[in-house]
Amino acid sequence: MSQKIEQIRGEFEAALEAVLDIAGLEALRLEYLSKKGKVASLMSELRNIPNEEKKSFGQKVNELKALVEQRLNARREELEAAAEQALIDATESYDDSLPAIEQVGSYHPITLVQRELEQIFLSMGFTVEDYLEVVDDFHCFEALNIPKHHPARDMQDTYYLDNGQLLKTHTSAAQNAIMKKYGAPLRAVFPGRCFRNESTDASHENTFFQMEGIMIDKDISISNLIYFMKTMLSEVFHKDVTVRLRPGFFPFVEPGFELDIKCLICGGDGCPSCKNSGWLELCPCGMIHPNVLRYGGIDPEEYSGFAFGLGLTRLAMMKYGIKDIRVFNKGSLKANSQFNAE
Ligand code: FA5
Repeated sequence: MSQKIEQIRGEFEAALEAVLDIAGLEALRLEYLSKKGKVASLMSELRNIPNEEKKSFGQKVNELKALVEQRLNARREELEAAAEQALIDATESYDDSLPAIEQVGSYHPITLVQRELEQIFLSMGFTVEDYLEVVDDFHCFEALNIPKHHPARDMQDTYYLDNGQLLKTHTSAAQNAIMKKYGAPLRAVFPGRCFRNESTDASHENTFFQMEGIMIDKDISISNLIYFMKTMLSEVFHKDVTVRLRPGFFPFVEPGFELDIKCLICGGDGCPSCKNSGWLELCPCGMIHPNVLRYGGIDPEEYSGFAFGLGLTRLAMMKYGIKDIRVFNKGSLKANSQFNAE
């Protein structure tokens, strides 16, 4: 009887070698492993075997069954991999003697504006700092004089993680860490991605970029703030742009201002990009609140400073004449690759 097992095993190995596709493999599986297959028929021989040999015979049949199953599975994997490779070869064939397509990469317009601004601020003695996108409540709000349940939080709803952290709503979230890192005096800008849970339109995205700047020293005043804002804008636009400064409320500055730019898409006549007002909110700013300096470990009796939060994405809209902010996040190579560094 053992000879019969060996014979079936030999036949199976030979048949397996000859199988060329999944259908053939399935036929072989049925031939050997189905209820009426060759392995099962061996089991039915048990009744003709002397009792003392039954156990060892049964074991050998089981071993054969396990071997057949294992070899079938291995062969199936081989055949599937070969079929996949054949498909890749058929669809992705290429002629490596053809000349390369001359498509060079380009920077995203926001990256271009960011780099230009970094150079402007570096030339004015500022450092450029990097910061996190996922922050805690303290850095995004409390260290900025926005305690829990303060109504100012309503203006900046965001996305919260289960562990209580959140996606930062503004680059101001880095102020505290940077004050603690350098102390006073201090000049730094910190660009970064911000997130807000709000409806999108031509000038609002849920994911956008800002560039924050702070300058802290002895006797810093609003005149310093206005000087730096004007210098920055005239260098970015390479022309005079009309701006207006109006009072604005942010708990982390006192006094606070909204710096608006006359819409460069419509020239101030009103269009969807400026919500028909002729002006675009671009760069809120103000004198850093004493509490914020204190949270950052800086003595407000000795030092004062200004801060601004430039809407980098909106600046890129104005600079490149892009009418709808949503273009930036579309990932369209055609749209993004038309801008080049000047
Ligand atoms: C702030 O985020 C303050 N942290 C700015 C600040 C910094 C004030 C330092 C004072 C001192 P605000 O929410 O207004 O403020 O946003 C600042 C700028 O970011 C806006 O003027 C606008 O240009 C841009 N911005 C805000 N929300 C969006 C949005 N949803 N999509 C695109 N740009 C936005």
